[in-house]
Formats: sequence, C-alpha cells, structure tokens
Amino acid sequence: MCGIVGILGTEAVAPQLLDALKRLEYRGYDSAGITTVNGGAFQRKRAEGKLRNLESALASGPLAGNAGIGHTRWATHGAPNVRNAHPHIAGRVAVVHNGIIENFQDLRNEILVAGGDLQSDTDTEVVAHLIDRKLSSGLSPKEAVAEVLPKLKGAFALALLFEGDEDLLIGARKGSPLAVGHGTGEMYLGSDAIALSPFTDRITYLEEGDWAVLTRSGVSIFDSQNKPVSRRESRSAVTAGLIDKGNYRHFMAKEIHEQPEVLGHTLSHYIDLGEKRIRIPAIEALDFKSLDRIVLSACGTAFYAGLVAKYWFEKYARLPVEIDIASEFRYRETPMSGRDCALFISQSGETADTLASLRYCKAQGAVIGAVVNVAESTIAREADVVFPTIAGPEIGVASTKAFTCQLTVLAALAVHAGLVRGHITVDEEAELVEALAAVPNFALSALKTEPAIEAMSQTLAKASNALYLGRGTNFPLALEGALKLKELSYIHAEGYAAGELKHGPIALIDETLPVFVIAPHDGIYEKTVSNMQEVAARGGRIVLLTDENGADKGSAAAETIILPAMHDLITPIVYALPVQLLAYHTAVFMGTDVDQPRNLAKSVTVE
Ligand code: G6P
Repeated sequence: MCGIVGILGTEAVAPQLLDALKRLEYRGYDSAGITTVNGGAFQRKRAEGKLRNLESALASGPLAGNAGIGHTRWATHGAPNVRNAHPHIAGRVAVVHNGIIENFQDLRNEILVAGGDLQSDTDTEVVAHLIDRKLSSGLSPKEAVAEVLPKLKGAFALALLFEGDEDLLIGARKGSPLAVGHGTGEMYLGSDAIALSPFTDRITYLEEGDWAVLTRSGVSIFDSQNKPVSRRESRSAVTAGLIDKGNYRHFMAKEIHEQPEVLGHTLSHYIDLGEKRIRIPAIEALDFKSLDRIVLSACGTAFYAGLVAKYWFEKYARLPVEIDIASEFRYRETPMSGRDCALFISQSGETADTLASLRYCKAQGAVIGAVVNVAESTIAREADVVFPTIAGPEIGVASTKAFTCQLTVLAALAVHAGLVRGHITVDEEAELVEALAAVPNFALSALKTEPAIEAMSQTLAKASNALYLGRGTNFPLALEGALKLKELSYIHAEGYAAGELKHGPIALIDETLPVFVIAPHDGIYEKTVSNMQEVAARGGRIVLLTDENGADKGSAAAETIILPAMHDLITPIVYALPVQLLAYHTAVFMGTDVDQPRNLAKSVTVE
C-alpha cells in the first residue's frame, strides 16, 4: 500500500526521493508525488499512474531543494488522480500519509466551517490543514504536531514537511509502519528499510504511537504521551543489491526460481541434517506439550499456508488447530486461554488485520508465535516467539517464495510438536526430517516443468474461468492456485476441495472450463481420480498435476504435469512451484502487470 519517504539531504533530493519511491513500488500504488522545500517555498510534482509519469513530469520541470517528501498512493478515499495524489499541502504544511484517518469526515467539516479550502477528496489533506491552523495560531511545528496527532483516529504513518524550514521533517506512526534512517549529515524517513537501503543501513523503527522530529543533526523521538523516548538503532540487513531482478524479466520469475536456494536457507535454520532432528531456535518460549490448541490467523497466501499447517499439526502432533482469516478473526471475540498458542503468518509482518488479531490474542493472554519474513517488522517485534522464514526480500506483489518458506517452517514446527507431545518417535522424526531436507532438490525438479507449463498457459489465457481441485494438504494449494491465477491474469478462478465438487462447482463444468487437479499419488489419490472422472464425463478439460506413480491413472486428463514421487509431507511445498509458474506464464502471455497487478498491494497496512 502507500509508500512514504522523506529526506533531509545535502544536495537536491528529488532524484533520491524518486529513486526511493521506485523501491516502494512493490507495495502497490496508483499515483505518486514529491514535494521539496527550496528557498522557503514548496515545489511539488504529482502524477497519476506509474512512476514513469512522475519521472517525466520531473524531467520537464525539476524540483530544487535539499529537503523533501515523496509518496506512492494506493487509493482509499478519492479516485487515483493528480488532485488526490500526495503530498497534500495546506499553507505552510505538506504531508504524505499511509493508512486511513477514520474520523476524516468530522475533521473535514470542522475545517470547512473554519473557512478552510480543501483541494482533494482524501482523508489525508485534513492533517495538513489542522497543523497549519495551529502554526497560524503561533505554535511551532513540533507543538502543532503534538496537539494535532491525538485528534486523528484510525491508522497512519505520516511524514510532514514545513515551508520556511529546510532542516525539519516530522514523522508519526500509529498502526502503519515508519522507519527513521540515520545518515552522515543527512536524515531519512521511510515506510521500510528497503526504501532507504541505498542511503543508509542504520535504522530506527518507530513504535506504536511514536512521533519523531528530524533535523540533519539527528532525531528526537516522543511517545503518544509526548514524552521523549529512546528507540534502538539497528543495522538493516536489506541491501539495495538484493532488490534487483537480476537476469529475470519480472521479480516474480526471479522469486519463483530462487525457491530451491531460499528453501535450503530456511531448512538449515530449523533442521540438523547430521542428527536428523528438528532444531528450532527460541522454541523454549513455546511449550507444545502444555498446549490445548493452536489458533492460526493470516491473510491471503499466508492464510493458505496456515490451512496446510492445520492438517500437519492435527495429524503429526494431534494438536487441534483453529484457523481464520485475520479480518474476520480480529472482530470475532474468540474465547482464548493461556493454554492456547496464537500463531500468525505474514511475509511483511505489517498486514493490518493480522497485526490486530495478534494484539487481540495478546490481550487474551495467549502465547504469541509469528512466522514472518521481515525480521524487523511490527508483527515480529510484538510476538513472544518468532519463527523467521529466510526467503529474502519478496518484491513481486503475489507471494511465492515466502509461501513455500512459510510452509517449510510450519512443517518443521508440526513435526517438532509431534515429537514433544509423544505422537511421533525419534525414528519417525528422522524420516520426516529427511523428507524436508529433500525439498530444495524436488523444487529444482519442479522448475523443470516450466517449458511444458509455459506452453499450457497459452490455452489457459483464452479461458474466462478456471477451477482448481485438491484434497488434504493439496486442497489449500488448490485455493492458492486459484488466487494466484485471479490476481495475476484477472481470469476468474475458484479453488475447491475435490470432494466438494458435487456440491456445486460440477454445475460449471463444460468443455470451456479448464480444471486443474492437484493430486500426488498419496493415500487419497484414488478418491481424487474418481472426482476427475466425474469432470471428464461432463466434458471438462482436465490438467493433472501428479507424480510418476499417479500419471498412468490420469487418463481422463487432457494434459499431465509429472513430478518425481516424494513424501506426502512435502507435496504442498513442491507442488506450489508449478502452480505459481502456471499463473505467472498465463499473466505474461496476457500482458498483465505481473509484479504489480492492478488494484493489489504487497503490504496491506489498512483494514
Ligand atoms: C497481500 C499480498 C499477498 C499476501 C497477503 C498477506 O494480499 O498481495 O501476496 O499473501 O497480502 O500479506 P502478508 O505480508 O501478511 O503475508
């Protein structure tokens, strides 16, 4: 969602701001803008659509000034046009914002009654007006911000620039993330460390309710009670070099192909191959033996990783799992106890609904675990125990490598829970560890299906609808396959449990409907074959994703993608790769914006 950057620099900052906005593109946006302050006056350029439009606007009219703020906007209030693009300016104040000011309507009315002139339809503009009014009444920028922040309800990360003061930036965070970057004689604000990565790796993350006053000589941070606080400065591991497409056409292609490697990194964090044991750092904080239940919550693709994990925890550890999408969970008022572990799964560690669910469970006294990819994220910082995925920065909006790494971590946790709860033996643990250790190699084999999948995608690109079917741990993968196809190619797709076919989706089957059946040759393979026959009998066009043992029974399929046979535990991890490739190539063939599909955001920081 919206990306924020602010710089107090030593030379003209507009090119640096644009550069930082390019690194925030991955979050998803539909307009962008930059404001600098030069010779006491604001200069501003804004453009609808992609950053290249802003870049052309800047090329024809460069902005001077060594201090500035920039923004990529994902529209919430008001259409994605120039008028609503940030920065918004009122008098001496310019503001960029990520989040939603929920009481904006009341504040707008208050401003209009006081004779204010609102230029946009956004919730954000009110912030600039309220602060400017305080300046007019004689307060300093710092005093004005301190008085206005408590009036804002909802979620926000803000960066504020002041006309007439070229050595001042003020940032504030409540709900949405904001980081301060420390340079030498320069200071920065950014939505994340990625935005600031070429400028500095010295980062201070603001905590909930914090606000920060930056000058070129440093930063003063205050909490929500306006008390000065000190927040730790850390070294970010994110380097600009990691945010690069390499030789790939899209970040998504690069991230799909990185999977053998990053799955290996993630595994080496959780298993001891020599001893064939699961070894989980910081696991002492979570005593699986004394748990009654795991409560899982997440959004999007991360939710589907949680759905797979439910099968694993219940089968291997006999530990009941309740799972819900975070936007529902957060308001459901689920009863919880200290014998529950609440587990949250998130690539970004910033998803607003997942974070709100975490805070609900914390207040209920549950132990909080988090499977996260961004180590410095809010979810990672607020959890009692963090299980990192070592996927590296994921830039493509549609999650790929983070998903398979999440599955890998969750599989290791489930096996470990099974052992400590006495439901699997050390020998069984060793067998399951060997299965997990084989994942990177099987992932490599799975990537070899790419030419066949690419050819297949050209037929799929002509379809208006598609159905994905699977059973057991491959049912959530069917849901993920449908989600991937929808978000990347805009083809409507549904994922279904194969056994549920007869309760509805079978009515859709005709010769125009592609049906993807994800069916490794496991204990329930024969059941899925029966469902496949039901589709074939009605003229459906089946594409079967199976292994060498399942291929010969797949005669009902028009096309078959064959993977090597592997342990049941790991099929949803390995089979995810052809599923991702199919959505990717279909989208490439259709010419959609693969890395930033329309209307989608990578990091969903508003609810
Ligand atoms: C968005 C992204 C998805 C992601 C989901 C959850 O919808 O487009 O790829 O799965 O958010 O994000 P998280 O960062 O919490 O995993």
